[in-house]
Amino acid sequence: MKAHQPQHDVSLTVNGEPKTVRAYAMERLLDVLRNQLGLTGAKEGCGEGECGSCSVLVDDNLVNSCLMPVLQAQGTKIVTIEGLAQGSKLHTLQQAFLDCGGAQCGICTPGMILAAYHLLNRKPKPNPEEIRESLAGNLCRCTGYTQICEAVTEAAKRAS
Ligand code: FES
Ligand code: FES
Repeated sequence: MKAHQPQHDVSLTVNGEPKTVRAYAMERLLDVLRNQLGLTGAKEGCGEGECGSCSVLVDDNLVNSCLMPVLQAQGTKIVTIEGLAQGSKLHTLQQAFLDCGGAQCGICTPGMILAAYHLLNRKPKPNPEEIRESLAGNLCRCTGYTQICEAVTEAAKRAS
């Protein structure tokens, strides 16, 4: 069926680099990031906007990329988990997740870290409730959330 649908060029900036992809209008941003751009950090969990494992930043908004048609991303600036580290140096949040045991199977981790990154960009010293609220759209089946919240607190402390 797709063979009869037109494809479109979509230009966007991903992790600071301009990219143009050719995609069907309703193709999901998640699939384009993973399959065309090789950015496999964003994960598909539910595929229905419920789990947050596919989270990316689109123009500084936290977005479930499984719900976003790529055509809507035309002209936007996207940040994925791959955009956080500086070369081999992990971002403070990534290091804190490692140090605090905030990642186990890792499926939720990129989305969790991006949700925390989004929070710390707006609020560098969040309180525990603000941390829990900011991560409320991201589900984790492994950690019980305590270590994740500790990791965000620790990252905020290290960054200050
Ligand atoms: S895979 Fe997108 S919200 Fe679950
Ligand atoms: S670490 Fe496994 S789902 Fe969160």
